[in-house]
Amino acid sequence: MRKHIVAPSVLAADFTRLGEEIEMVNQSEADWLHVDVMDGRFVPNITFGMFVVEAMHKLARKPLDVHLMILEPEKYIEAFRKAGAHVITVHYEACPHLHRTIHQIRESGAMAGVALNPHTPVAVLEDVIEDLDLVCLMSVNPGFGGQKFIYQTMPKIQKLREMIDTRNSKALIEIDGGVGLQNAESLLQAGADVLVAGNSVFAAADPRATISALKAFQPVFDF
Ligand code: DX5
Ligand code: ZN
Repeated sequence: MRKHIVAPSVLAADFTRLGEEIEMVNQSEADWLHVDVMDGRFVPNITFGMFVVEAMHKLARKPLDVHLMILEPEKYIEAFRKAGAHVITVHYEACPHLHRTIHQIRESGAMAGVALNPHTPVAVLEDVIEDLDLVCLMSVNPGFGGQKFIYQTMPKIQKLREMIDTRNSKALIEIDGGVGLQNAESLLQAGADVLVAGNSVFAAADPRATISALKAFQPVFDF
């Protein structure tokens, strides 16, 4: 049976209590901590860089899933790996030499991920799918938490699942943006492996219970 991964997105945490928020994730059933790095150029928002990721790594007992929403990510891969990234995901739209960048991530020792914006078809990954550990399908336009899930992501998950299975790739399918208890089950049924959840976890009355509920969903079909 395939068991999915739940990755709370720290972007939605209360940064005045970052230590406590990360401790909540440590004590929860979450598998990873999703960390959004934004540069104000690739996306219209700025978050934090490797120094803050390093501090999060000191506090977190869950692997860091680092989502780089930055231009020229190849310049910073080793630095984020040193800061403690377990997964490093770059954007297809920010990488003219994607194959080289994927291999640079793998050589750093991190799991290699590629994220696709909502308008980018999954077919662009056909020639690199075997080299990937993770594909992140953006189900909102990247840059902000708390946005509405874009429904067109559903058929993209199915297409990607088919590509991964026929090519015998080990890539995990991650869904990022607008994920919560209302759509987790359909996402898993469509073939998702990793659910990123920002506001649905951190703004919940009981974040830990929400993480457990996201973990408890089962896809209808066992693979
Ligand atoms: C958006 C980020 C997401 C964000 C998701 O650019 O990549 O990881 O934190 O937040 P929610 O779950 O609130 O949509
Ligand atoms: Zn993200």
